[in-house]
Formats: sequence, structure tokens, C-alpha cells
Amino acid sequence: MLKGIIQFSHYLMEEAVNKGDTVIDATCGNGHDTVFLSEIVGENGHVFGFDIQEQAIEHTKENLAVHKITNATIIKDSHSNAIHHLTVDQLTSLGGAIFNLGYLPGSDKGIVTKSESTILAIEGILSHLKENGIVVLVVYHGHEGGDIEKRNILEYVHQLNQKQYNVLYYGFINQKNTPPFIIAIERKTR
Ligand SMILES: C[S@@+](CC[C@H](N)C(=O)[O-])C[C@H]1O[C@@H](n2cnc3c(N)ncnc32)[C@H](O)[C@@H]1O
Repeated sequence: MLKGIIQFSHYLMEEAVNKGDTVIDATCGNGHDTVFLSEIVGENGHVFGFDIQEQAIEHTKENLAVHKITNATIIKDSHSNAIHHLTVDQLTSLGGAIFNLGYLPGSDKGIVTKSESTILAIEGILSHLKENGIVVLVVYHGHEGGDIEKRNILEYVHQLNQKQYNVLYYGFINQKNTPPFIIAIERKTR
């Protein structure tokens, strides 16, 4: 009955995002979320996918080609620059963003998301996010440095103004080791 972490992250995006919206996959990796997002925004919407690794960019483009997806743009750049790649119209229709933090499975575990750029990216996205839009963070933190990113992100989201945002924490607290969890930030008003 309880949705798993990936399933719940997709459920939240599906609930908040509308057809025709612009959405951001802030860590496209192998492109699984990019493919999912392209379906929920429909042919009139658009997905912008970001990653800093060439391998991730190639895998995501291959994944999009397999699924014959044309409403997505994949950009090799840090998500901290994400909003600078969008036009004013695209920023106005920004309905959501998803971050899968950590490293790309099957790849260099030394290339991981870092709290400085993650928080910069979240701040930029929140400054343009539509009312009722959502930012979903899937926080993997078992790798080296993951505890620091986790701590800094929790500190950042704790201080978000409750009049403007709902902040949700979702995770399975009886799992062994360092299970991933979700932070979802819903924009209440603009
Ligand atoms: C957990 S993986 C993402 C998995 C992906 N969502 C999927 O469905 O396959 C994290 C990704 O974040 C990327 N990354 C790390 N720092 C980044 C940054 N500053 N901007 C964008 N992507 C970054 C890594 O290269 C890696 O591919």
C-alpha cells in the first residue's frame, strides 16, 4: 500500500504537474525521470534535463530516442544554471522539478551532487515555480559526502517560509543502512 520512494516521487510529480507545463529533470542520469516527465506534460509541455556527465547526457538521449520522445531538451550543464536556459514563457509555465541526488548507478561514484549547487538550483527554481508547483528531491546519501549534502539540504528546507511553501519528508525509517528519502516542496502562493 505504501508507495516506494521512486513510485512516490513520480506520484507527487503527476499530482502537481499539468499538461502543457514546463518541468525540469535536474539530474537526468540515465533518463528514467526525463521519460516519465515527458509523458505527464504531454505534447504541449516540455522537459529540460540537466546533467554534468557526458555519459548521462548520452544515455538520456538514447532513452528518449527509444521512446520516440520529442518534447525534451537535454543540456550538459549544472542544475544550478537551469533557469538560465529557459525562456520567460517557459519560466512562467514552470510546474515542477525533480532531483535524484547522489551518483549515477554503474558510473563514477566520485561524481556526486553537492549541496552548494543543489541548493542554488532549488532556490532558482522556487523563485519561478508556479503556484501549486512542486520540487521533489530524492535524497540518496549513503555515499561519501552524502551525509553533508543531506544535512545542508534539511537545514535549507527547514527555514522555508510556511506561508509560501509546504515541505514534506517521506521515508522508511526502519530500513537498514542509509535508505533514501524524499523531500517535496510545494509552492502554496506566489
Ligand atoms: C542519482 S543520479 C540520477 C539518476 C536519474 N534520475 C535516472 O533516472 O537515471 C545523479 C546524477 O546527478 C548528476 N549530477 C551531479 N551533479 C550535478 C549538477 N551539479 N548538475 C546536474 N547534474 C548533476 C550526476 O552526474 C548523476 O548522473
